[in-house]
Amino acid sequence: MSELVLTDEERARAGERLVALLDRYERDLPGAQVLPEPDRDRLAALLADSVPDKGIGVDGLFDRLEDTILPNSATVAHSRFLAYVLGPPNGVAAYAEAVAATINQNCNFWQLSPAASVVERSVLEWLASVVGFPATAKGILTGGGSLATLQAMATALDDRVPGFRETGLQRSAPPLVVYTSVEAHRSVDKAAAILGIGLDHVRHIATDEHHRMDVTALTAAIDADRAAGLRPWCVVATCGTVATGSVDPLDAIADVCVEQDLWLHVDGAYGGLFLLCEEMREPMGGAARGDSISLDPHKLLFAPLEAGCLLVRDGAKLRAAYAFDSSYLTVAEDPLLTDYMDYGPQLSRNFKALKVWSALQAFGVDAFRSATRRTLELARRLGRGIEAIDGLTLLAPVTLTAVCFVVDGASQDEQTELLETLAAENTALLGPVLIDGRHGVRACVTNHRTTARDVDLILARLREIAIDRGSLSSGGGEFQDVDGA
Ligand SMILES: Cc1ncc(COP(=O)(O)O)c(C=O)c1O
Repeated sequence: MSELVLTDEERARAGERLVALLDRYERDLPGAQVLPEPDRDRLAALLADSVPDKGIGVDGLFDRLEDTILPNSATVAHSRFLAYVLGPPNGVAAYAEAVAATINQNCNFWQLSPAASVVERSVLEWLASVVGFPATAKGILTGGGSLATLQAMATALDDRVPGFRETGLQRSAPPLVVYTSVEAHRSVDKAAAILGIGLDHVRHIATDEHHRMDVTALTAAIDADRAAGLRPWCVVATCGTVATGSVDPLDAIADVCVEQDLWLHVDGAYGGLFLLCEEMREPMGGAARGDSISLDPHKLLFAPLEAGCLLVRDGAKLRAAYAFDSSYLTVAEDPLLTDYMDYGPQLSRNFKALKVWSALQAFGVDAFRSATRRTLELARRLGRGIEAIDGLTLLAPVTLTAVCFVVDGASQDEQTELLETLAAENTALLGPVLIDGRHGVRACVTNHRTTARDVDLILARLREIAIDRGSLSSGGGEFQDVDGA
């Protein structure tokens, strides 16, 4: 018998401990510290105690998880975790992940993972229908939105640069140029750097007063590059920018891409899945005109990390970019089953689709529609509340769920201090933002657990802070903690 399996008793004990841990975690969430102060001694001990030659067993392991790992982890599932764009996992996530680890399917070619292949396809086909892509679309689940954009841009190279697979960019030809906005996520720059385009060939197009790409400026930049002998190649538009949630004018950008024969990738990592809400379909119109789109089920479908997605409207182009023959991997084609190794750079791949599919099965799509709609409503409530507080100013309109504001007259350090105070007193974890050169605070309600009560509690505290600051303004107005100490 292998030493690496559990006995019947150990399995029962591991099950008991796991169930108890998950149950306690859920019950303790409301009172949990959203961002616990790390216990440096305990964490340092993780390094000092070397990996043991003799194992500590199931109980020893669970003790360690409970005394060291859990207390030193951010409480992402807390209802007032509103920093960055990070959704708390949905309720069946842990169970689906446990099953995926148990069956450990390799989602490379279908013989090794027949059910997984169909589950991934079913998730991708559903996501394509949410976006409004045609039946020709194909896709792949990725490690996140950044990887989806990288993989999309690699597909665009393969499609638009003749001979790209054979000779890459290693021959003399005018340099390629990619266009995105000044508000785009840095994953676009990163992809351009990794793919050999070079940051000096990424044009960061100016935005309008609502932080959306300025299409006139885009056209002018393309014309200028053509006149200079460069090769305009790809536009990355954003459906939900990371700072303010603004949505680029996707239809107008798609028109430019058609006219100019450029690949259009839509970065929908943050905003794309708001297409689940009927009312967002019009403002996000044009998303389906992209040649490709990235989505992040680990944000708005509240799948546990990692679950990103790339969809390509003409799926044959995705396959053309990634399928390679190899003598040691011979698989019979089957119309039902897909070899996902032919749709992305990875060979060995885990079963990401199971956690996404399981939640859709268990809760149904309507539950996700109402969760995303609720986050939009709560963000608007927070935005309205902030507008109503003297001494606070919204930095941008609330388009999706990002609410960006400043404390009037506060320096960057003071805004940072505000974030620290709110986290330390457990009011909320918010994040920093820089908009039009102004440093401020950003709450992103990408959280299915957040309630109106949470929003009101945050507003009440911000009102207190603004009042205190107003009365102290002549003295410099330092932020006080919750006890007024
Ligand atoms: C607009 C946008 N694009 C890309 C990303 C990167 O996504 P990921 O963290 O899944 O790689 C984010 C992350 O917040 C984002 O907001």
